Amino acid sequence: QEGTLDGNREKALGAGAIAYEELDLREEFARDFLAPIIKANALYEGQYPLVSALSRPLIVQQQVAMARKYGADGIAHGCTGKGNDQVRFEVSSMALAPDLELVAPVRNWGFTREDSIAYAAEHGIPVGATKEKLYSIDDNLWGRAIECGEMEDPWAVPPKGVWLLTQQTATEPRDVVIGFERGVPVAIDGDKLGMAEIIARLNDVVGSYGWGRIDMVENRRVGIKSRETYECPAALALIMAHRDLESICLERDLEREKARFEPRYAELIYDGLWFSPLKKALDSFIDSSQEFVTGEVRLHLEPNSCEVTGRRSEHS
Ligand code: ARG
Repeated sequence: QEGTLDGNREKALGAGAIAYEELDLREEFARDFLAPIIKANALYEGQYPLVSALSRPLIVQQQVAMARKYGADGIAHGCTGKGNDQVRFEVSSMALAPDLELVAPVRNWGFTREDSIAYAAEHGIPVGATKEKLYSIDDNLWGRAIECGEMEDPWAVPPKGVWLLTQQTATEPRDVVIGFERGVPVAIDGDKLGMAEIIARLNDVVGSYGWGRIDMVENRRVGIKSRETYECPAALALIMAHRDLESICLERDLEREKARFEPRYAELIYDGLWFSPLKKALDSFIDSSQEFVTGEVRLHLEPNSCEVTGRRSEHS
């Protein structure tokens, strides 16, 4: 994530925590949450690769593990009542640990930002930020979401300053070859790498061509429409390459039927139903569909463009 973890320990202990732990979960995130998304070509409403929606079930898994480790009887989140994330946190935690109490002070006490700052001061919790944040930003290995501020008006052009991963600095055209095995990326330009490393590298390379932005109005789970901007260079490049490889590796009927389920799969995850029976059943279908999705896809990069220019597989 953007920013630093400095000060978090003090904040936690100041708030009365009995322990504080920092975990690096990039490998688990890639293996257990991003690989299924690539195999499924999952894009919510045809565009959004589910960046935030994917991190919530992993966070809840860890929260539940911590609650068990320290004998806690509840878990908390700091979401407001306006977004999808509250739903994802709560549905996931009810699925994994129905006995744990859910604590959602910002939403349940109707806190404004000023209320939160006042509450922290009153209770001796050190919080750094006092100046109004312009945007609500969430980011992880899979990309970055930037919302609110002047962009709430869907006609407003996103200010240049919101983009971080997709600043165009590269000018020379180049190719990148992505190797897949059974539907998951395993190599870049012939170098075998872990998936987290592949994604991090692609964010750098593809992002440096200024490619990977999304500007859309999406239907939130809670019933409101919301203008969102995202930058997800690696996610969009990998899904494009994977889908292209499937076009030579999947038998026609399987390819068509799978394409019908993909939007549904993305909706389930968007709606917070990662730990649900339908999601699990679709995973079995999708996994079985990937048996022969092994091969390579060549992407061609130029400023503001990323295109497939070739694909090959022993199974085609
Ligand atoms: N609209 C996106 C989603 O629901 C992004 C949410 C980002 N979260 C945030 N707290 N800014 O997945």
